[in-house]
Amino acid sequence: VLAVKLNRLSLANPILVASGTFGYAKEMTAFVDFKKLGGIIPKTVTPQPRAGNPPPRTVETASGMLNSIGLDNDGFDQFMAEKLPYLADLGSSVIVNIAAKTNDEFRRMADVLNAAEGVAAVELNISCPNVSGGVDFGTNPELAASVVETVCSAGPLPVIAKLTPNVTSVIPIAQAVADAGADAVSLINTFQGMAIDWKKRKPILGNVLGGLSGPAIKPLALRIVWQVAQAVKIPIIGVGGIQCLNDVMEFLVAGATAVQVGTANFYNPGLSSELVSQLAEVVQQEGVSNISELVGTLRTDA
Ligand code: DOR
Repeated sequence: VLAVKLNRLSLANPILVASGTFGYAKEMTAFVDFKKLGGIIPKTVTPQPRAGNPPPRTVETASGMLNSIGLDNDGFDQFMAEKLPYLADLGSSVIVNIAAKTNDEFRRMADVLNAAEGVAAVELNISCPNVSGGVDFGTNPELAASVVETVCSAGPLPVIAKLTPNVTSVIPIAQAVADAGADAVSLINTFQGMAIDWKKRKPILGNVLGGLSGPAIKPLALRIVWQVAQAVKIPIIGVGGIQCLNDVMEFLVAGATAVQVGTANFYNPGLSSELVSQLAEVVQQEGVSNISELVGTLRTDA
């Protein structure tokens, strides 16, 4: 009743945890029943280890969290050797999130992932607002299409493109990655913002700018999910400020086939697996045989 399909990617249910908010899962063991989740998306990995941005890297504002982590990670080889074997054993689908600066780098990681055991799909982070070049692929339809084509040609693994809201319209980018063969789009990465200590005349974040996440961006994410669902034929994974079951249902009726829980993992780490149980009840109450029957059912007529 909860199984969903996003082109080539089949998931046990539509509740995923968003990259960067769940570490590499180990740190969540005490709080989450991993087997219940539709999928786990670990922190972005890059070809080489990265130290990330100068501190402070996160700040709470009155309207959400700002982060400028800067893709801190131990690199792809270390991930494959030490993180993936553990993740692959948790009983959930593992969607590996990758970022790189060139098509060749994306291709090399995609080749290895296609040959590996225990990977359900690849999510392309072409939308990080916090590193130079982080959104180059994600703000230009031709570049976005080229990286999706490159990764698709590496093998049969399903490909998800995670897109940025920091553009005038997400629709041309979503259309380009759909045409290039992406199985789904994740909407949205964080919204670029800043926090200021005016008395010091200084930005609070070491990197000056950061990405805003949490409930503050939910209306923005819903708007983008709905607009893309109207305009482009591609399955959508909704992400942005999900804190409870009603939030999940709003994304689904707006047109998302699945969702990612992000910032809430930091303050309510048990939420994601609880949502799966609650979703099963909704299916019963709404009298549908599969949750996907509710996707895109929003009516905008009078
Ligand atoms: O907000 C974000 N922060 N989005 C990303 O894609 C990466 C992350 C970071 O590492 O800065």
